[in-house]
Formats: sequence, structure tokens, C-alpha cells
Amino acid sequence: MCGIYGYIGKEKALFHVFDGLKRLEYRGYDSSGIAYVDKNGKIKIIKSIGEVENLKNKINFCEKSNLAIGHTRWATHGKPDIKNCHPHFSEHFALVHNGIIENYKDLKSQLNYKFYSETDTEVIAKLLEENYKKLINNSNKEISILNIIKNSLDKLKGSFAVALIYKNNPQNIYVFKKNSPLVIAKNNQESFISSDINAINNCFEYYSLSDMDIAEIGENYIKIYDENLNLINKKKIKKKALNYLTSKKYSHNMLKEINEIPIALEHIYKEFQTKNFFNISKKIKEYKNITIVGCGTAYHAGLYGKYILEKYLNKKIYSELSSEFKYKNIIINKNDLVIGISQSGETADTISALERAKSKGASVLVITNTPNSTMTRLADYLIICNTGPEFGVAATKSYVSQIYTLYGLACLSINKKINNSVINSSKKLLKEIDKFEFCKFYNKEKFFFIGRLFDSVTAFEGALKLKEISYVHSEGYCAGELKHGTLSLIDEKSLVIAIITQDSIKEKTINAIHEVKARGAEVLVITQFKDFKQLDNIIELPLIEEDILSVLSIIPLQLFAFNFSLMKGLNPDKPRNLAKSVTVE
Ligand code: F6R
Repeated sequence: MCGIYGYIGKEKALFHVFDGLKRLEYRGYDSSGIAYVDKNGKIKIIKSIGEVENLKNKINFCEKSNLAIGHTRWATHGKPDIKNCHPHFSEHFALVHNGIIENYKDLKSQLNYKFYSETDTEVIAKLLEENYKKLINNSNKEISILNIIKNSLDKLKGSFAVALIYKNNPQNIYVFKKNSPLVIAKNNQESFISSDINAINNCFEYYSLSDMDIAEIGENYIKIYDENLNLINKKKIKKKALNYLTSKKYSHNMLKEINEIPIALEHIYKEFQTKNFFNISKKIKEYKNITIVGCGTAYHAGLYGKYILEKYLNKKIYSELSSEFKYKNIIINKNDLVIGISQSGETADTISALERAKSKGASVLVITNTPNSTMTRLADYLIICNTGPEFGVAATKSYVSQIYTLYGLACLSINKKINNSVINSSKKLLKEIDKFEFCKFYNKEKFFFIGRLFDSVTAFEGALKLKEISYVHSEGYCAGELKHGTLSLIDEKSLVIAIITQDSIKEKTINAIHEVKARGAEVLVITQFKDFKQLDNIIELPLIEEDILSVLSIIPLQLFAFNFSLMKGLNPDKPRNLAKSVTVE
């Protein structure tokens, strides 16, 4: 959450940082700001509320500056207004921060400063100032910025990536981090920093900071120190090229990404042919227990994984929310495998869950779409879905890719042929749904998504998509659960969307349809079965193997949410209060 971008080099620092913030906007778009060093060596700050584009009007792009740090915010402490917007400052420091300082209240009460904002970040600026003063009072030698940072860093608890400019030495950017990603990159005569490596383009060298490292960055050099301030020789990391799947223009990222599902599936199908994938599929059978962790949409993919692996491997598989797994009493050891699923590879809860699993001796398999992410570095086994970057905040093609990956793993582990007709079927379905008139449901006020087994997963995910980008209340239920309480909510203002793709339990969900229709609800059925011809509202799925229909059944629901959001005059790419990559716990 929140994006950090910084530049030091030639004269166009403001341009570079604004440009970088635009690429990082998916991480938060409540407000944004830049601190830069002007031609007289003075630190200046510009801030703006709302999207990064709003900052443009406040920047004089002709102004020469060779150093700037910027931030795009997803508010955690304090509402998105100018005073809470980054960069934050004290007399000698201006800084931007990604993460949460958990002990900020304690620190605030210990520091004798007047605070102008409600943020945890301002505490870092004041803490640095306090340490600056302490060092200056206790030493008549020149004081070292590294010592000021180290003394401050030692007091901070939580997760943070911080970039700062120091008034007494405005030729450098300083950065430090703990539990939050930060990458430094270098070119001839210029250096960059970013909270996402993929926001930096065309550099020769890339370095990923480890927790508690401190770096000093100049236009010609990068010096990285460990927590004891020893200069270290950091290994360069490789930036893998990202695949921008289609260059075709769409009105929104979300629509583009849904339409990229067929190509995404093709990419994964190629991954199934690799030795790495084959080896992992054989290896997973050797583990005693398998637990799948993830958050939000990735958690739903994990639920699908539980059903398919249980069915094929014929053993108990556990599926857990990362945010619960990391705190509960987990019974896990070296004989177990934990599978972490994440589009971004940066979700803080999933990172902590995987770290916890590793600390208990378990092996970790990471399934992610983001090659250079933090989770890839935690993995004993790694599968990159390679579906190209996803910028729409609502996960669409990444969810479908995760499901297909889990299906592929389950198939190969028992030597079953992997179905690839789903690729062409997804193309066909996308064409068909284009004709569907979602607008006929726009007068509905309550939305219930129901299904059983695999279809319950689609129901949960469909409901999440709708509430996330349309702000209407929607619920996903296992169809059998309706009558145990929720049925009391059903009336003529309700739309019930039933997903029915599993033959063995088809009749059971049909019963649920009768029950809700009897209470006045309108029903939309998503199915490949022909039994529903008499119903008014059907979206027919292509006829393919049931076990993999979850890849297709979610597509109409993603498009339903997208259309509903547009109808309400919202921007489906940037839902309020949310951001693409949730790097706070
Ligand atoms: C919903 C959505 C979120 C993410 C969740 C995990 O559309 O995008 O629920 O799925 O925040 O994110 P990743 O997959 O990056 O770990």
C-alpha cells in the first residue's frame, strides 16, 4: 500500500518522480506529494489530494531539480487531506513512508514536539529530528546521518519503507526498511528508488534492500549498510521483464484485464509444460499436510485449490486466510507444505503467514503473478503465473490464472491430462457475454451469490467483486446455507445469482432457487446445463470438464460487477478505500 518513488541525477527529478508515481498509483490514490531539492539546495514540498494527476497542476516541470522523493497514499492513519499527505517533515528532514509504525502513539508521547498531522509517519520525521539534536549536543564532531537514522530505526516497530532527504546534505537520498519492499536502481549518472521494482525502467543495476539495511544514494553511487552500519556488498537482483499482454485499447484496465483472460490461460498452459511445474506437481504429494493461504480473491483461489487437490490427491487439504493463519495456533512442521497465493507477491498478511510457516519448518510454495516480489524470495518452490501486470484494483485475470494453476498442479500430480479447451472456451464466452444485458438488474438492491462446492467459491468471489467496485451490499453463500438464516433477507428487491456447474449437486441448488423465487427474488443462473431453459435469466457456459468450469463461471460475474460500477458512475479501476497491493497488516 502506498507507493514510493525517488530520483537523483540530472535536472528532471520532478518529471521522473511524477512519472514514477503515476505507475505506482495502483498502490493508493487518496493523495500524493513530492519533496525535492531546488536549484539553491533548499527542500521544497508539493502535495495534492486525490489522484496523482491532480499533482500535475502544482508542479512546475520547467523547474530544475536533480533530486526528489514522492509518494502516493492509501490512508491508514488520518484522512486523506493535505496535512496527512506525504512527504512529512521536521526541521532537518523530509520523508515519505510506506507501511505502519505500530508504536507511533508511544513515540509521539515521548517526543516533545508539536505534531501537525494525524499520521504515524510524522513521528519518524520528529524522531529523526530528536536524534539529530541528541547527537549534535553530545558531539562536537560532524554528525553522521547514518547514526541518526540507525538510532531512529532501532526505535521503530512495525512495517516500513522510508525514503528521506536531509537538509544538511541535500545531494543524497537515504532509505531504510523493515517488512516492506524497497528497491534501488542505477544507471549512468542517475539512481532511482521505488517500492515496486516494476515501476523502474531501463536501469543497469537493481538492488533489493533487506530489513534494517540503510542506504545512501547519490547520482553515481549506492552505498548499502547493515544494521551495524557496516558497508555491505549487496548482490544485484535481476529484474524480470513483465509481459504486457495486449496493447489493444480498452476504456478501463479492468475490462482490458478480463479480456486478457484467454491469453493469460495460454501463458499458464505453457508453464505447465516446464520441468519446474512438473517437479513441483510431483513434490506436493510427498507432504503430509498441505495448507493454502491467501487474502481476498487469492484466498478464494486457495479454496478452489482445496477442493481440487482434495478431490485428486484424495487427502485433506486446508485453506486459510493469511490474516488468521499468522496468529492462530498452527500445528505444522517440516513434513508440511504451505502454498501462498498472491497476485502481487507483496501482501503483508500472506508474507507473514509464509514466514510463520517457514519458522515452523514447513516448505513454502509461492504462486504469484509478480516475478520480482518479496514472496518469491521466501519460496522453496515458485510458480510464476505470468499473466502480465494487473492494474485494475479488482483482481480478475489473476484469479482465473491462480485457479488454472491449481487445477494444473492437481492434474499433473496424478498424471491426469490437463484440459486446455478452457482457453478457447474463454474466448467464446467473452464474446457471448458481450451481448448480455446486465442493465436489467440495476434496480435491484440486494445481491446474493449462491453455489455449492466449486461453485460456492465462484459465489464468494462474485460477491466480493460486486461489493468492491460498486459499493452495493452483496453476499456469497454456499447454497445450502441460505435457509439457515439468510433467507429472511430475500424479497423482491433481491437478485440471487446461482452458479450451477456440478452435476452431482445440481438438483440441490435448484431447490434453493425455488426457495428464493417463492420469496419474490429474481434469479440469474450461470450454468452449462440445459435444464434451465424455462428461466428468464441464464448465462450459458461452454460445455467443458466440470472441474475446470470455475475458470469460466467467474467471468460473467466480473463483467457484471464492472458494468454495475459503470452504471453507478464509478471508476471500477479505482474503488474508494482500496488499493491494489495491501502491504500493511
Ligand atoms: C479483490 C482483490 C483483493 C486481493 C487481496 C490479495 O479483487 O484484489 O482481495 O485479492 O488483497 O492480494 P494479492 O493477491 O496481491 O495477495
